[in-house]
Amino acid sequence: MAVLEVSGLTKRYPGVTALDGVDLEVRPGEVHVLIGENGAGKSTMVRCLSGIERPDAGTMRLHGRPYRPDTAADGLKAGVRVVHQELALLPNLSVAENLFLHHLPRRAGVVDRAALDRSARNLLAEVGLELSPRTPVERLGIAQMQLVEIAKALSGQCQLLIMDEPTATLTPKETGRLFEILRRLTANGVAVIYISHHLEEIFEIGDRVTVLRNGQHVVTREIAGLTTAELVRFMVGRDLAHEYPPVRARERGEELLRVTDLQVTPATPPLSLTVHAGEVVGVAGLVNSGRTEAMRAIFGADRPAAGRVEVRGRPVRSRHPRAAVRAGLSFLTEDRKAQGLVLDLPIAANMSLASLPAVSRFGLLSRSAENRAATRLAEKLRVASQGVRQHVRALSGGNQQKVVLGRWLAADTDLLIVDEPTRGIDVGARYEIHQLLLDLADAGKGLLVVSSDLPELLGICDRIIVFSRNAIAGEVERADFDAERVLNLAYSGYLKGVSV
Ligand SMILES: Nc1ncnc2c1ncn2[C@@H]1O[C@H](COP(=O)(O)OP(=O)(O)OP(=O)(O)O)[C@@H](O)[C@H]1O
Ligand SMILES: [Mg+2]
Repeated sequence: MAVLEVSGLTKRYPGVTALDGVDLEVRPGEVHVLIGENGAGKSTMVRCLSGIERPDAGTMRLHGRPYRPDTAADGLKAGVRVVHQELALLPNLSVAENLFLHHLPRRAGVVDRAALDRSARNLLAEVGLELSPRTPVERLGIAQMQLVEIAKALSGQCQLLIMDEPTATLTPKETGRLFEILRRLTANGVAVIYISHHLEEIFEIGDRVTVLRNGQHVVTREIAGLTTAELVRFMVGRDLAHEYPPVRARERGEELLRVTDLQVTPATPPLSLTVHAGEVVGVAGLVNSGRTEAMRAIFGADRPAAGRVEVRGRPVRSRHPRAAVRAGLSFLTEDRKAQGLVLDLPIAANMSLASLPAVSRFGLLSRSAENRAATRLAEKLRVASQGVRQHVRALSGGNQQKVVLGRWLAADTDLLIVDEPTRGIDVGARYEIHQLLLDLADAGKGLLVVSSDLPELLGICDRIIVFSRNAIAGEVERADFDAERVLNLAYSGYLKGVSV
């Protein structure tokens, strides 16, 4: 018997039908992949299944019995565990408290700290997180938070495990470990619904796939025998002829950025690099290899211990993001939430935050200029919305990301640092974003692109700088691009002293 049967599930928001009569059946022991473009309705489905939202129509059955959760607590009670797309940990509480929030072990009425620590340690070990259960969550990086969310979903009994883009911030190794856990659970009959924009993951872990488009069910299929091209066509409704836009030969112009002996902390090695006008420079490396920290230090978001940063030969003296922006640098951080998306402002306002001069006339903000500029960008980025006056809160996760990206693309600075520009973005829009980045380079701007997606870097960069254990392990020019070569460099810092 199916673990979950959904039939005719419908959810409407003002102006949009997020789910339009969707059917879904999930069997015991299967990983059922749910895919679709940004805004297709995947997370809405998850919210209905978990009890956070009530559907407008349709029925759900769990193990053959009617399932109508009114709250998230009802879902939990029924054995439905969810890792949501948006992290939802309580920052002031410890890791252990977050893990067992709903079922803290008690002795004689008080929380049993020792038991709590013990259980927490076991769960953390399972997901491969080495940290004290007493660590406050606010001190963790995003990848660690994601692992805590996953560990939390694994605490206690579960019949149906739902994961909404769980690997967006994880390393391949952490993803591998997650897949091992999923295989163990499914071997015990647990059913898994798995959402991801990474097609290679889907082939690795999925048994069947359901594709949604514009809130409608497109197809459900066995994954074995499907090709990537077929999946993309189901999702996007058209063929994507090329995975990456053609990279045109470009003149390497004047030097825009020169970083000399920059030390992120007194203990980390000095880093030096340059970026020229018209150049797309990739920054590869494993997560935690120091890439993000280096970018933050270059931009002035964190104060480096030593070193010089020059833009067009002029030192950026004051170590502050505002000085960096004035000098012509902008930075799209990997932590989109911290980028200050203002959820209750329209898309257009959010997009123009970094480029107010361009949409102002005589010092006054011109709403129509703002709308026009935002509309153009939103179209290019394929933001699924009801127009640029719509509030960002009503957008799907991926579409919110596109808005942040749009803000920095609109900023029109000489040098743009983007950290994980296509994370959480669907395959169709990825191409457009790559095209936009290349257009900027064609226009003479310099780009530093940090990405954990190596094919992406190989697809769009002129040169790749490889980080390994907080140092620059090497650089590879486009003519010498080779995935293995980059990977060897990325691992090199960790292999020193290890006889292979
Ligand atoms: N609270 C809300 N108010 C209004 N519209 C909403 C709300 N939440 C979601 N929507 C709309 O519902 C549709 C489906 O969104 P959903 O978040 O389910 O997409 P998704 O498939 O998860 O996309 P992504 O890949 O970007 O995460 C979108 O058009 C979105 O704008
Ligand atoms: Mg979503």
